[in-house]
Parts: sequence; C-alpha cells; structure tokens
Amino acid sequence: MPTRQIRNVAFVDGVRTPFGKANGGLYKDTRADDMVVRCIRELLRRNPQLPPSRIDEVAIAATTQIGDQGLTIGRTAALLAGLPNTVPGYAIDRMCAGAMTAVTTVSASIAIGAYDVAIAGGVEHMGRHPMGEGVDPNPRFLAERLVDPSALVMGSTAENLHDRLPHITKSRADAFGLASQERYAEAVKNGKIQPDLVTVGTFSKDDGWGLASDDEAPRATSMEKLASLKTPFRPHGRVTAGNAAGLNDGATGCVLAAEEVAEELGLPVAMRLVSYGFAGVEPEVMGVGPIPSTEKALRLAGLSISDIGLFELNEAFAVQVLAFLDHFGIADDDPRVNPWGGAIAVGHPLASSGVRLMTQLARLFAERPDVRYGTTAMCIGIGMGGTVIWENPHWEGS
Ligand SMILES: CC(C)(COP(=O)(O)OP(=O)(O)OC[C@H]1O[C@@H](n2cnc3c(N)ncnc32)[C@H](O)[C@@H]1OP(=O)(O)O)[C@@H](O)C(=O)NCCC(=O)NCCS
Repeated sequence: MPTRQIRNVAFVDGVRTPFGKANGGLYKDTRADDMVVRCIRELLRRNPQLPPSRIDEVAIAATTQIGDQGLTIGRTAALLAGLPNTVPGYAIDRMCAGAMTAVTTVSASIAIGAYDVAIAGGVEHMGRHPMGEGVDPNPRFLAERLVDPSALVMGSTAENLHDRLPHITKSRADAFGLASQERYAEAVKNGKIQPDLVTVGTFSKDDGWGLASDDEAPRATSMEKLASLKTPFRPHGRVTAGNAAGLNDGATGCVLAAEEVAEELGLPVAMRLVSYGFAGVEPEVMGVGPIPSTEKALRLAGLSISDIGLFELNEAFAVQVLAFLDHFGIADDDPRVNPWGGAIAVGHPLASSGVRLMTQLARLFAERPDVRYGTTAMCIGIGMGGTVIWENPHWEGS
C-alpha cells in the first residue's frame, strides 16, 4: 500500500451559458446536452495547455435525468464535445446543488490522487424538464408524516420560512430582490459577467437561427412594482416572482486539478479548495440548509464567519438568504454578499447553479487580493444545504 498524501485541489477555470427563461425563452428548441457540450468545448478552448487526454473524469449534474438530460450525461456530453473516448464521465444529482456536488466529489478524488484533472458542471433545462417531471414520491412520506406536503413545493417551503421568521418581512425580501437586480445590472455595465459566458447557437422553427450571448431573465424593477406582484404559492403570501429565482435553462462547467498538476501543465489556479460541508434540515424549511452546512465547512476549515471576505450565496428565495445573513449577523446589504447580483436576477437553472457561484467567486478573487477566503453556499430541495470554502491564490495579505 503506497503512502498517500492529500493534494491541494485547484479550481482552474469556469464558464457558463447565458441563462435563459424557461418556457419559450432563448433555448426553447435547444437540447440540454448541447448546452453542456458548449461549456466543455469552451473550457478546452480557453485552456489549450490542457491535453484532453489528461482529463480523468467528467461529472455533470442534472436534477431531471431523463431525455436530453439522461443517458449518463457526463459521459455522453464528453463524447459529444469531442473528448477522447478514453475519458470517462458520469451523471450526478443533488437537485439545486448538483454542480456543487459534482465539484466536491471530483475534488475529493483529486485530493486522494485518483484523478489529476476533472471537469465538473451541471445543466437544467427547466423548459424541457419542468420541476417535478416524472417524480414519484413514496406515499410513506405523507402517510407517515415524514414530511409536510409543502416540503415538495420549493416556493411553499419559502413561505414556511417567512412564517417561522416573521421579522423577515415581504418588504425586506423585495428590497433584497431589487438589490440583486441592481447589482447584476451594474456588474454587466462594468463588464464583470460577460467574460465567463459562452455563447450558444440556437435554432427554432419559429425564429430560425440565433445566438444566445446574454442572460435573459434580469430586469429593471422597483419596490412599487415588486409590491404589486402575485404571491403564487399562497394567497396573501410573501414569495413572488420578484423575490425568488425564476425558472431557467442553463449549463455550467469548470476544470479542477491537483494544484501540482495545474503547475505541471501551466494551468491557472483561480481558487484553492479549503473545505466543504453538506447538511440536512427539516424539508419544509429547506432554505435554512446553508446555515448548518456553512457552520460545518467553517469548522472543518478551522475558520470563523469573520474570516470570509466574499460570499456567493445562491438566491433561491430572498427569505432564505436573509435567514442565513441574520443567523451570521451580516447586514442585508453587506457588500461582501453577492456583489454582482445573484439568482433572483440571473436565474437558477437548478443543477447548474453551483458552478456559476464558483466561477463568479473566482473572478471576484482575481479583483480582490485583499480577500483571503470566500464561500459558495446554497440551499437544496428536500431539506439540505451545501457550502464550499475557497482560498484566494491572489491574496496579498500576511
Ligand atoms: C415564482 C414563480 C412561480 C413565478 O413564475 P412565473 O409566474 O412564471 O413568473 P413570471 O416571470 O411570469 O413573473 C410573473 C409576473 O411577475 C412579473 N415580474 C417577475 N419578476 C419581476 C420583477 N423583478 N419586477 C417586476 N415584475 C416582475 C412578470 O412580468 C409577470 O408579470 P405578468 O403576470 O403581468 O406577466 C417561479 O419563478 C418559481 O417557481 N420560482 C421558484 C423556482 C424554484 O423553486 N427553484 C428552486 C429553488 S429551491
């Protein structure tokens, strides 16, 4: 038995497709697997030092693994992207944290030396595969009251969270949604988002050929307009289309490598993985999941919340981000949190979003050598949270 040494894992590079609106949006006639292929090919184009034959794994997440998101999409997308057929791949699912789990799973394999280099990412075409398509929950869940019926409807879990935390009012949630849109618009104006978008050629019978190059969902709005929106999950509720992530289509991908292998190949080290944690919570308030997962990841890293200089938090719902911020004593408008906006503006194609958070954090790290640690975190359906803590290799502190 050889002596094993745990190796540092580097996030080398990340990309994503522009996110479209589900149901008649940019990608209405585009296949989900083709969107993943665009991400893999763009990663190879941007990193010509990486010989495709050195890729040891392609892990791609999707929540609904049927049709164009089925057939072991990591393997099929790798072949379709032109990787040598010697490169294996697999599909992975942890709903909203699919791509995050693809990253942590291949990273653990890199750390123990099973892989040198891997691609991880995710896709969700919520237009072709609406949430809940084909699910068949075991009747025991409800018959034995293992979960409340609302636990299976994510918007209802957000309403439940408002019930539990009445100090998080609708107007606080709306203000957070507005800020997400404004921060995203400012980031686009300053050219922060575009560098990691990979354009996608589209074709539809109705509209002919097109090129998706910008996110489709973001919109200018106001507190007055937000206050007037319907509350689709409950009469007189608090969750609206303006303080929740929408229904979207999109794909993400990233390259991870052992840091020593990145050095050998001349690949950049954009972030260094420090620790990660996943945790379970009551499914009916799944939005609080990132609280215990972050506490776990911090504990494993030997860090405290005050060590974290940047947070990329997935905005599934404003209320669940606000619950996280309140728990850790962080202000609603703290500039360390989602400085370039979040999923309420850009969208949340479920299994793809984890790598969007990481790609954005990597770009922020490059701009912020004063920050040593950053966190990506998200809530997950059926009551979970996931957190990854990263170190900034550009950090210039002592
Ligand atoms: C909230 C939700 C039900 C809204 O769906 P929808 O009704 O199809 O959303 P739309 O984009 O059509 O928006 C509804 C209305 O609000 C308006 N609107 C949406 N966002 C707005 C904003 N930021 N400002 C102003 N108006 C807005 C739309 O124009 C639309 O108006 P209309 O009815 O006059 O056409 C849906 O986005 C959803 O389910 N989100 C949660 C997704 C989820 O659970 N993800 C997993 C997380 S764990």
